[in-house]
Amino acid sequence: MINISNLTKTFGDFKAVDGLSLHIKPGEIFGFLGPNGAGKTTTVKILSGIMRPSSGSVSIAGFDVDKQPEDAKRNLAYIPDEPFVYPKLTAWEFLRFIGDIYRVPETEQKKRIPELFDMFDLTDVSDGLLEGYSHGMRQKLLIASVLLRKPKAILFDEPTVGLDPKSIRRFKNLLGEMAKGGAAVFMCTHILDMAEKLCSEVGIIFEGKLIARGTVQDVKAAAHSGSDSSLEDVFLKLTEKQSHD
Ligand SMILES: Nc1ncnc2c1ncn2[C@@H]1O[C@H](COP(=O)(O)OP(=O)(O)O)[C@@H](O)[C@H]1O
Ligand SMILES: [Mg+2]
Repeated sequence: MINISNLTKTFGDFKAVDGLSLHIKPGEIFGFLGPNGAGKTTTVKILSGIMRPSSGSVSIAGFDVDKQPEDAKRNLAYIPDEPFVYPKLTAWEFLRFIGDIYRVPETEQKKRIPELFDMFDLTDVSDGLLEGYSHGMRQKLLIASVLLRKPKAILFDEPTVGLDPKSIRRFKNLLGEMAKGGAAVFMCTHILDMAEKLCSEVGIIFEGKLIARGTVQDVKAAAHSGSDSSLEDVFLKLTEKQSHD
């Protein structure tokens, strides 16, 4: 569903992403882990068509993001780390707008939008302009818009940064439901504990290169870490080994 093939992105002489290949299947919640500057955001920007690859290719639901951008984007939702929403719309107008763009039938919009507001505690502020929304409220609204659309592939960049604990718990359940519905979820995070609890598979990116991939158990075994060690220990061990090479 999400396919990354030998992707490289350079900025001048600097390789932010270096020969990355990954395939994320429908129903999979993939955790893309790595320290700051590893190349995570660059990768999702290329997947979403905001940035072009220097070489290699990416596709969503079989559509090449560079060559068939409209087909790719129709099947994709991208929640960036700095969520942008149109400031002069209300939350209600925003969700109607998204629903119309992605051709969600009007009767379904009218039924589901109030349910989504309720789910994210946004009912009381749904008629307020989005310019007054906090970071966390914007993020919740964007996640609500994803649920309204039901895309085949979902990209999250550090999704839990602006969310309170109650919303994080809810978000975990929602991710599970989206995946059960057949979506492929690609989630960048540096919160290793989250990835360990949530993700069916993880990949670790360091200095633009994928240095481990598999289930959390596989990755632990590859780092020769004990079965009771946290992903954090594994991560430190793997990146340390790399930087001494
Ligand atoms: N537009 C850009 N121009 C130059 N360097 C960039 C640009 N975007 C990202 N980088 C660099 O690429 C590296 C990877 O960045 P990024 O993908 O944002 O990392 P992450 O999301 O894993 O923290 C960083 O060293 C960053 O400074
Ligand atoms: Mg980032």
